[in-house]
Amino acid sequence: MAAGPTAPIPIMRPHLPPLEPFTAIVAELFETRRLSNFAKYTRLLEERAAVVLDHPSPSSVSSCDVGLTLAWRALECPPGEVIVPSFTFCSTVNALRWNGLEPVFADVDPQTYCLDPDDVQRRITTRTVGIAAVHVFGLPAPIAPLEGLAREHGLKLVFDAAHGLGGRYQGKALGGFGDASVFSLSGTKLVTGGEGALATFRDPAVAERFTYLRAYGFKADYNCRYIGLNGKLSELNAALGWLSLDLLESALARRQDQVQRYRQALVDCPDVSWQAVPAGCIHGYKDLAVRFRTPEQRAAVEAALTAGGIMTKRYFLPVHRMDAYRDWARTRLPVTDQLSERLLCIPLYHDLAEDGIEAIAGIIRTSLKRTAARHWAA
Ligand SMILES: Cc1ncc(COP(=O)(O)O)c(C=O)c1O
Repeated sequence: MAAGPTAPIPIMRPHLPPLEPFTAIVAELFETRRLSNFAKYTRLLEERAAVVLDHPSPSSVSSCDVGLTLAWRALECPPGEVIVPSFTFCSTVNALRWNGLEPVFADVDPQTYCLDPDDVQRRITTRTVGIAAVHVFGLPAPIAPLEGLAREHGLKLVFDAAHGLGGRYQGKALGGFGDASVFSLSGTKLVTGGEGALATFRDPAVAERFTYLRAYGFKADYNCRYIGLNGKLSELNAALGWLSLDLLESALARRQDQVQRYRQALVDCPDVSWQAVPAGCIHGYKDLAVRFRTPEQRAAVEAALTAGGIMTKRYFLPVHRMDAYRDWARTRLPVTDQLSERLLCIPLYHDLAEDGIEAIAGIIRTSLKRTAARHWAA
């Protein structure tokens, strides 16, 4: 039997910059008392993000969840239906409901786990006003076909790019696609500000509206021009995010190396498969999901890893299966259901050591062998 790790292994650990430059900034902020309201570090974060996201002027916001909600608001989408994957985190869909938009769930591609453009096309009606797509686990969604559909049918296209930092599509970072994209800087992402997000828009007028909406709806004069929210990012979060964006390239390279190690270690397991990465895409690997041939194999591996002190997660729980969305689950989503019964996210973070990866892969391999032996004995 493969030896387990000696200490518990979490599913993720934030990757942080050196402490010293951050403490110097904290000292400066204690001196200047400029803790919020789009001061020095919010500006620096936005400037650095422009380079990292291939977009001239990203806007900071307090979280991806709030950013998505306000992005749809800024687009001034008419009432109607928005086609959206169920295989996502609830924020993608909650953002629609906060704007009174009606989610129409579409299925995902069985190889990439991202929104399936053919299924989107089948669900477009005269009531459709938009498409919400997700860069699942950091893999770019099928951007060109979705942009084609949006153009052809006059629909708004918003990318939930919560996992999108580090991903690239046809040579470009993901900030310049669709009508809007929102990238998370929460503590579970490749690089983090603790909390926070960055939003990008195609139309500068929409971007300008967003900058009102994220600050209650007004600028300086207390006169609400739009009905906004407090979506401001604090200077402390902005400073940490600014320092952390410098780590993105090395964080991405490290994760790609770790993913290759996992795949190599499990190359002889025919019951294990991986999210496909289409030509022209760079996967950001915010998460790494192992896909098992059967739900029973997933349950067995999950139990074995838990017993070995290794954290995993069943991710995503499809939104159409959540209590708040049962009434919106109007058609079958076979690929989404299949994936949600077979995927297991395993630990992936910057300082996960090689022997940790070997130990995790060893437990997966041993557990699969045991499950197969029980199956044949039955
Ligand atoms: C796909 C997706 N969208 C949105 C969010 C929300 O991001 P945040 O925590 O920055 O609000 C998450 C959170 O991880 C997510 O996974």
